Amino acid sequence: MTRTTHSIQGLALGLLLLFSAPLWATELSPKQIQAALDKAYTQYKDIKEGANADYIPALAKVDPKLYGIVLVTTDGSVYSAGDVQSQVSIQSISKVFTMALVMDESGTAALAENMGVDATGQVFNSIYAIEQNKGAEMNPLVNPGAITATSMVKGNTYDDIWNKILGTYEAFAGRSLTVLEDVYRSEAETNQRNRAIAALMAAYGRITTDPLRATDIYTRQCSVGVNARDLGIMAATLANAGKNPVTGRQAMQAENVPEVLAVMATAGLYDDAGKWLYQTGLPAKSGVGGGIIAVSPGKFGIAVVSPPLDAAGNSVRAQKAIADISNALGGNPYQVTPR
Ligand code: DON
Repeated sequence: MTRTTHSIQGLALGLLLLFSAPLWATELSPKQIQAALDKAYTQYKDIKEGANADYIPALAKVDPKLYGIVLVTTDGSVYSAGDVQSQVSIQSISKVFTMALVMDESGTAALAENMGVDATGQVFNSIYAIEQNKGAEMNPLVNPGAITATSMVKGNTYDDIWNKILGTYEAFAGRSLTVLEDVYRSEAETNQRNRAIAALMAAYGRITTDPLRATDIYTRQCSVGVNARDLGIMAATLANAGKNPVTGRQAMQAENVPEVLAVMATAGLYDDAGKWLYQTGLPAKSGVGGGIIAVSPGKFGIAVVSPPLDAAGNSVRAQKAIADISNALGGNPYQVTPR
């Protein structure tokens, strides 16, 4: 190639960058981001809607006033408002990260071919959803699919499997995590329905290991303690192609992140997933411990912890705060400027 060709190419590239820059200029000042968090915190701090989950007795005892917001940008800046230190159990948000682990170990097709990657439109622990399609045409974010995903994690012993699951969560959070033993015991004593779900998934050949062991590991994974900061960093890791923006560690394979986000978008807030996507455009996941994470790909991850839930099992304050903050910051990935 001649030197002239090089310089023409260089000029063309320069012009392209110059003129395309405004289209990519999504930069917001730290002040604007913090102001959006502060506003949502103040606006929803005193609302009284919703109630703690009580079908797991330990969850009913958590302070309903607990409320924390954390937003982490893909360059690793952390913004927060409220209580971001107090831990709650991760509950169903764990399903996202076990799903990610199974995708990394066995490929994205393994989940699609087993329990499926379709929204059920039904409650998260529906047995009817299993019966409809013999344990298929569901997804790894509702209980039958989630317990099945846990059963698919490779390992010879309970401890092998558990250490791999916990290690994955820790890579996403960027710190060591522990199980909240009181929550684990409380759920283990009352999880007859999940045991039935696992038995049925085994009867349909979806779970091929001991279904009771899978249910127990699943119960343990749901009891891992996290605070709003942990969840914010976990969400931001998904926003940053699986690389934790705070620690710089790759927590999952970048190529599998789009599939994780797709299932979160269609099924992350259960039977209210459609309403949520309509409102925000964000892949998200809730847990009955009161946390919700949401991901604006390439921009930020956000998490809110606040235990009172609505009828679908999603935190009331978290939905309101995340929607407001994301909309204020241009987080909706479907919102683009026409060329
Ligand atoms: O299996 C359960 O019922 C709980 N460990 C998790 C459910 C959950 O978080 C659903 N979330 N909205």
